[in-house]
Amino acid sequence: MQPRSARITGWGMYAPEGVLTNEDLARLVDTSDEWIFTRTGIRERRVAAPHETAATMGAIAAKRAIATAGLEADDIDMILLATCTPDYWLPSTAAFVKEAIGNRRAAAMDVSAACSGFVYGFATADAMVRSGMYRHVLVIGSELLTRFLDFTDRSTCILFGDGAGAVVLSASDEPGGGMLGAELTTDPEGAYFIWMPSGGSASPPSAQTVSRGEHYIRMEGRETYRYATKTLASTAVTAIERAGLTQDDIALFVPHQANLRIIEFVARSMGIDMGRVYVNVERYGNTSAASVPIALAEAVDSGRVQIGDNIVFVAFGAGFTSGAAVVEWTADPANGVRARAVVPTASVHLPADWRAAAPVPPELADILARRNGSALAEPEVPGSSQRGAPEPAEPVRAASGSVPPKVTA
Ligand code: ACO
Repeated sequence: MQPRSARITGWGMYAPEGVLTNEDLARLVDTSDEWIFTRTGIRERRVAAPHETAATMGAIAAKRAIATAGLEADDIDMILLATCTPDYWLPSTAAFVKEAIGNRRAAAMDVSAACSGFVYGFATADAMVRSGMYRHVLVIGSELLTRFLDFTDRSTCILFGDGAGAVVLSASDEPGGGMLGAELTTDPEGAYFIWMPSGGSASPPSAQTVSRGEHYIRMEGRETYRYATKTLASTAVTAIERAGLTQDDIALFVPHQANLRIIEFVARSMGIDMGRVYVNVERYGNTSAASVPIALAEAVDSGRVQIGDNIVFVAFGAGFTSGAAVVEWTADPANGVRARAVVPTASVHLPADWRAAAPVPPELADILARRNGSALAEPEVPGSSQRGAPEPAEPVRAASGSVPPKVTA
C-alpha cells in the first residue's frame, strides 16, 4: 500500500577522531594555513584510523540515525550507501553496513554519484518509500577520501577529509512533509575534471598504474570551481520551483561543503544571506557524499531546523553530477539526543586467510600518531608501513570508534 508521505525520521553522523590541520599539511607540501583558509575556508579535516573503513564509519552514522528514528536495525528494509571510496570494488560497502548494524532483512546497495551521491540516494529512497516498495530506507553517505589522495599534490590533498552521515526515510500515514521537489543532473563533459584514472576496467590496476599514482584522485580545480558555482545555484532553483516554492520559503540551505568561497558565491547569486546557509567546511573539509548528511545532522542537533521548515540539500561532484532536494522537516529535532547513547563502534568480518595492507597513508601516520596519540597510533593494522605492500599476518576485524578492533582467534 502506498503511504501518504515519505519523511525523514532519523539522522546521525560520525567523524573520526584524528584531526589533520592546515599546519600539518604545510609540513608535507608547499602550502600554508593562510592559503588554504583564504581559498577554501578549511582549517582542518578528519582522518580515519587504521581500523576504520567507509563501512564501519557509515555503520556508526547509520546506528545513530536508526536510534534517532526510534527504530531497531531490523526495521530497515533497504540500505542505500553513497560513496566514491568503497571498502572494496566488490562487494558493495552497503552489504558490510548491513552486517555492522546487525540488520538481517534489508536489501543493500551502493550509489555512485561522487559528492552528489547522498542527494541521489535520498531521491531514490524517496521514490522507493512513496511507491510503497519499502517502509524504512536508510540513506548513508560515507567517505574515506584520505586513502585516495596524493600527499605530494597540494592542489588536491588539502581539500578532502573522512566521515559519514545518514538519514532514515520512513513511510507515513500523515499527508505532507518530506521531499517536495528534486533535481538531479549529470554532465559527462566534466567527466575527466575529477577522476581516478586507474583501477577500473578502462585501466586495470598494475604495478605501472600504481607507480604512476593513477589510483589517486585528480582534479582540475578551476574547471570544477566554475561548474560548481554555476550548477549548484541552477540545480537548487529548479528543485525549489518543482516544490512550488521560492527562495524566500527556504529556512535553511544545507549545501555540499567543498569550499566556502563556492558556497558564498552561490548564496550571493541566489540572493540568500549566509544566515540561512549551514556551513561546517572549516572543521571537516570536503567529505564528498558524507558532506550533506553530516551538515544536516549537525544543523538539526544544533537547533537550526524546526518542524515545518523547508530545507534544501544541494550538492555537486565528479561526473559532473549535481543534485538538490527540497524537504519539509517533520521530525522532532530533540530526537537527535537518542544518538548520543549509541556507542561509536562498528565491526565487520574479514576472511580468515586475508588481511589488508597498512591502510593509513605513510605521510599521515606520524603526524596523526603524534597529535592524536593512541587514537591513530593504536590499534595498528599490522603489515608493511608502505602503501600497497601487504604482508601476511593474522586476520583482523575492521572496527570503528574509540575502542580497539576485535582480533579474530
Ligand atoms: N597551496 C599553495 N598554493 C597552491 C595550492 C596550495 N594548496 N594549490 C594550488 N596552489 C597554487 C597553484 O599552483 C597556482 O600557482 P601558480 O599561479 O603559480 O600556477 C595558484 O595556487 C592558483 O592555483 P588555482 O588552482 O588557480 O587556485 P584556485 O584559486 O582555483 O584554488 C581550489 C584552488 C581551492 C582547488 C579551487 O579551484 C577549488 O576549490 N575548486 C573546486 C574544487 C572542488 O570543490 N571539488 C569538489 C568536487 S570533488 C568530488 O566530487 C570528489
